Amino acid sequence: MPNIEGKVALVTGGASGIGKAVSRRLLEKGAKLVGILDINETAGQQVFSEFAEEFGKERVRFEKCDVSNESEIKAAFQEVHSVHQTLNIILNNAGSALLDPIETIEVNLDSMEDQKSRRLDT
Ligand SMILES: NC(=O)c1ccc[n+]([C@@H]2O[C@H](COP(=O)([O-])OP(=O)(O)OC[C@H]3O[C@@H](n4cnc5c(N)ncnc54)[C@H](O)[C@@H]3O)[C@@H](O)[C@H]2O)c1
Repeated sequence: MPNIEGKVALVTGGASGIGKAVSRRLLEKGAKLVGILDINETAGQQVFSEFAEEFGKERVRFEKCDVSNESEIKAAFQEVHSVHQTLNIILNNAGSALLDPIETIEVNLDSMEDQKSRRLDT
């Protein structure tokens, strides 16, 4: 794993499964901030509480966000970016293996295209 110490990371779909596991690992490896974006507010708040207690509330954020909604993802990115005025790592993970596979790919690719094609106004 590359050096994570002091990095600011953003994980979509970080409220459960792979995204939650990666978020935890980033915090264990010294990330300064992990911003978790997820459509599931209940799970997201639970993960926030769990990680805040374990790693410190200044190192974790949760933003409710549907990655297929352009304005929501932009607002959530800006929220996380505004804390330290930087974003070093983005894990575009949101989706569900239980959805129709084509829908899953569309959710993931659409949000990745959005992230690639838009610069944050900073
Ligand atoms: N688990 C596997 O075996 C497997 C295999 C291949 C691909 N994947 C992909 O890996 C990713 C994570 O899988 P997982 O097993 O951890 O799934 P999971 O269902 O445990 O976690 C996915 C998370 O994404 C969130 N999410 C779903 N749609 C969203 C949206 N539109 N906006 C924001 N958040 C959203 C869910 O609320 C959930 O917290 C998914 O994209 C999945 O398609 C998983």
